[in-house]
Amino acid sequence: ATIQWYPGHMNKAKNQLEDKLDLIDVIIEVLDARLPVSSRNPMIGNLVKKKPHIVVLNKCDLADPVQTKLWTHYFQKEGSFVISMDAQHNTNMSALIKLIKLAAKEKTEKLIAKGASNPIIRVALAGIPNCGKSTIINRLVGRNAAIVGDRPGVTKGQSWLKTKTNIQILDTPGILWPKFEDQTVGYKLAACGAIKEDIFHADDVALFVIKFLKAHYLNDLVKFSRLSKERIEELTDPDILLEMTQNYGMRDDYDRFAIFMLQRLRKGKIGRITFDLR
Ligand code: G4P
Repeated sequence: ATIQWYPGHMNKAKNQLEDKLDLIDVIIEVLDARLPVSSRNPMIGNLVKKKPHIVVLNKCDLADPVQTKLWTHYFQKEGSFVISMDAQHNTNMSALIKLIKLAAKEKTEKLIAKGASNPIIRVALAGIPNCGKSTIINRLVGRNAAIVGDRPGVTKGQSWLKTKTNIQILDTPGILWPKFEDQTVGYKLAACGAIKEDIFHADDVALFVIKFLKAHYLNDLVKFSRLSKERIEELTDPDILLEMTQNYGMRDDYDRFAIFMLQRLRKGKIGRITFDLR
């Protein structure tokens, strides 16, 4: 199947972010820790070169901790500030605030030298849909949800959210579109619920997941499938799907089981699984 929704949306998102770049001190690029490559917009590279840039590996509660560590080192080597977090459960938020301040240090120090006492740091978040941008914004803003509002010299319609600190956040995050180079990337995004469009059948995504788990997370597959390692190794992937369906009492309704399996996967109930392996 060819996927056609990508380029138009992507250009629009890129332009929106570029328009606002002058107003922003720090860009937070939110990635899904399970998909640090596949959830990365190929065009963000050029944008973030112009600004201090933080990579957030979000949903690390769902990702393989060993992989998250490796990816953290990878992005650090790239020269980015990096932090892994679980925004849903509010972990590591004070570390993110510290990192924002560190990333903006050059600017704030300049302003302080000029006599400013507590210069405002303006931050924008960007990332693909469903990676947790709104959750992070809500955590940062907390109860200070008051909108700072438009000001002279600020583009009309621009709203900055106040936080407890001198950090302000652009109220609408930049929505970027994921890489969509090939079928595999598409399956990974679908498996993690990063794309909601029904461009794949659930059973195809489930088969992809089975194959991936078999290769990289066999113990998690054994546990979830209720099949032995030996049985998994002798069956074809479609037969694994069928036997799992039966083990869960759904007879031959593998479509229903595939949907169930993906729901469990996305909630982290199959295991902590990273799909882009470092
Ligand atoms: P977005 O603005 O980037 O589109 O993402 P948003 O914050 O709306 O988050 C999307 C979903 O991901 C939400 O679940 C949210 O609770 C969940 N989420 C965000 N951060 C984390 C995290 O660190 N760990 C986990 N496990 N989940 C996180 P939702 O509203 O239930 O949506 P859905 O799960 O039905 O897609």
